Amino acid sequence: MAAFRSLRKIATNSVITRNKNGIFEAARCISTAGFPGLSETHQMLWKTCRDFADKELVPVAGQNDKDCSFPKEQVKMLGEMGLLCVDISEEDGGTGLDYLAYAIAMEEVSRGCASAGCIMSVNNSLYLGPIKMYANPEQKERFMKPFLHGDKVGCFALSEPGNGSDAGAASTTARLEGDEWVLNGTKSWITNGYESEATVVFATTDKSKKHKGISAFLVPKPTPGLSLGKKEDKLGIRATSTCNLIFDDCRIPKENLLGEPGFGFKIAMKTLDAGRIGIAAQGLGIAQASLECAIDYAQKRMAFNEPISKQQMIQEKLANMEVQIESARLLTWKAAMLKDAGKPYTKDAAMAKLAASEAATFCAHQAIQTLGGMGYVTSMPAERLYRDARITEIYEGTSEIQRLVIAGQLLKEYAAH
Ligand code: CAA
Repeated sequence: MAAFRSLRKIATNSVITRNKNGIFEAARCISTAGFPGLSETHQMLWKTCRDFADKELVPVAGQNDKDCSFPKEQVKMLGEMGLLCVDISEEDGGTGLDYLAYAIAMEEVSRGCASAGCIMSVNNSLYLGPIKMYANPEQKERFMKPFLHGDKVGCFALSEPGNGSDAGAASTTARLEGDEWVLNGTKSWITNGYESEATVVFATTDKSKKHKGISAFLVPKPTPGLSLGKKEDKLGIRATSTCNLIFDDCRIPKENLLGEPGFGFKIAMKTLDAGRIGIAAQGLGIAQASLECAIDYAQKRMAFNEPISKQQMIQEKLANMEVQIESARLLTWKAAMLKDAGKPYTKDAAMAKLAASEAATFCAHQAIQTLGGMGYVTSMPAERLYRDARITEIYEGTSEIQRLVIAGQLLKEYAAH
C-alpha cells in the first residue's frame, strides 16, 4: 500500500493536459473516464501512469533508444511507484493490485517508452509471476523481496538457440549432485539479461520424459558457471538488453528448485499465459502512442490549404487505428478480468496478445504513412514506435503460436459440448 500511496501522490500533483496536444488529451480522458465498470482506482492509476510517462519517460525514450542504454533511473522510479510488483500481495511487500491494474499501467508506461514497458513486464510477469505462484517462503525472501521496488530486476530463461516456439524441447540440463543442481546449456533471447540479478531457468532433468522432464530453477546472478553472451544489436526496444545465458557446470543449491520436479513446462506455460496480457498491454501502449503522434501531426501539417486531418484518406487511417486499439484493449481487459476472477484465460490472453501486437504494428505503420517523410526520421517518435512494435508479435510466443493456442483451446471447448 505504501508503494501505491506514491501513485496517489503523483495523481494528486499531476497536471491534466501536460501534452501539447490538448484536443486529443481531452477526448481520450472522456473515453477512459466513461468506460463502464472501470473502478475509480483503475481510472486514477491510469491517469497517474499517463502523467508519469509524459513527464519521466517520453522525454528520454528517444535518446535511450539511440544510445541503447538501460533506463536505470526510470526503472528505479517505476519500482518506487510500485509498478514493478503490481499484482504481488501487500503481505509479500508488493503493490497488491489486480491484473487489470497491471494491464492499464503497462499500457501507459509502454506508451511513454516501450523499452521501459518491456523491463516492467519481464520483472512483473515473467520473473515475479512464477515466484508468486510457486516459491516457498524462504525462496520468496531471497528471490522476491529485493526485486519488488527497482533495487534489482529479474529475468526469465526458457528459449534456447535450438528451440523458441517448441518450448518443450529444452536441451539445457540439470543434474542433482549431492546437495546441488548442476546446470549445463545455453538459454537465448533473454530480456534484462545484462542487468538482472537473478533468473528463473527451465532445464530438463530427464530428456526421455520430454516436457514432463523439465523443471524450473532459481539462479542468482552472478553465480560461478553462469556467463553472458554478447548483447544483441536489435531492431527495437533498444534500451533493453537481450543476450544468451550460458550455463557451464553452474552449481546452485538443491533448494533452488522452483515448484515440483518435472512441473517446469506447466510453470512456463502458466507464466506465459499471464505474461501475454502484459505484452498485449505493451502493444496497446505502442499503438496508442502511434495514433497520438499521427493525430498531432495531421492537425498541424498543412497540405492543399488545409490541415491533412481534414482529408478523408487520413481520417480513414485514424479511424482504422482507433478501431484496432479499442478492440484490442477490450480483449486485453477481458483477459485480465478473467484472470482476476480466477477463471480460465489461456485463450483470451492469446487473443489479446495477437490483436494488440498486430494493432501495434498496424498503427505504427499507419503513423509513418500519415507523417510521410517526417515519419521516417528519428526527430519524430514514429520510426521508433515502428521498430518497437515489431517485437510484440515475436516474444512471449509469436503471432503464429498465439493462433495455435487459440485454435487448440477453441477445439477443446467445442469437444466438451
Ligand atoms: N497452462 C497450463 N498447462 C498447459 C498450458 C497452459 N497454458 N498449455 C499447455 N499446457 C500443458 C498441457 O496441458 C500438457 O499437459 P500434460 O502433459 O499433463 O497433458 C502439456 O502442457 C503439453 O501441452 P502441449 O502438448 O499443448 O504442448 P506443446 O509442446 O504442443 O506446446 C505451445 C504448446 C503452445 C506451442 C508452447 O510450446 C508455447 O507456448 N510455445 C511458445 C513459447 C514462448 O512463448 N516462448 C517465449 C519465451 S519468453 C520470451 O519471449 C523471452 C523474454 O525474455 C521476453
